Amino acid sequence: MRSLSLTPEMEGQGSLILVNKDHPLRIQPAAKTFRFFGSSRIPLEKRTALVLENLLGALGCRSSILLVSGFRTREEQEEIYASSLKENGPEFTGKYVALPDCSEHQTGLAADLALNREPIDFIRPHFPRTGICRSFRAKMTSYGFTERYPEGKEAITGIAAEPWHFRYVGIPHAALMERYGLCLEEYLEYLACFPFEGPHLKIEIQNQSFEIFYQKSGEQGARIEIPADNPFLISGTNTGGYIVTLWR
Ligand code: DAL
Repeated sequence: MRSLSLTPEMEGQGSLILVNKDHPLRIQPAAKTFRFFGSSRIPLEKRTALVLENLLGALGCRSSILLVSGFRTREEQEEIYASSLKENGPEFTGKYVALPDCSEHQTGLAADLALNREPIDFIRPHFPRTGICRSFRAKMTSYGFTERYPEGKEAITGIAAEPWHFRYVGIPHAALMERYGLCLEEYLEYLACFPFEGPHLKIEIQNQSFEIFYQKSGEQGARIEIPADNPFLISGTNTGGYIVTLWR
């Protein structure tokens, strides 16, 4: 077995962190964790950018689907919030723009996408459920993307349905969220039912076996043991714990 030390900082980082009005971002990601998406000047978290480029490449739609918004600094989110309040009023803004530090755009893991057709709305881009956008949705979970604010989950996410806003959560989590119809808030609660002490969630997705468990974070973080030589990924939840994913 291999012993791993999970630090308190790790709890606020990783592809599964929840960022919403009840769970603001605590650690502003470092500039070195980003890269520009494709030939654009829009930064995304590095893996998110790479996977999204591969997904659009596999669909042959790098010019028909555009990234409208990716990583935003706290200051940019403040500006967007303030200008939307002025232009659209508080009701609209509360539905479609997260408060500064409560926006997952500040993680670089969120991507607002639009069908490349003028005019392109910055806050509510057009991303229909037909044509190439439908093909994107059919493939996205196998690349680790989820539609973050689905219709019917508004009371849980606190945000109106946003069919253009996609979030990288990684494999196999996007596929599991889709299989069980869970938004990120619900999914993290579900995973918390599989603590390190066991039993763990053991599941097969796309012909690959996974073992997933949750570890609560203490003041000093936490310590876990996983099988040696086993590929794994650890993400904080930003809600007080960590999710450990093992490729089995
Ligand atoms: N549009 C999403 C909710 C944001 O502003 O982060």
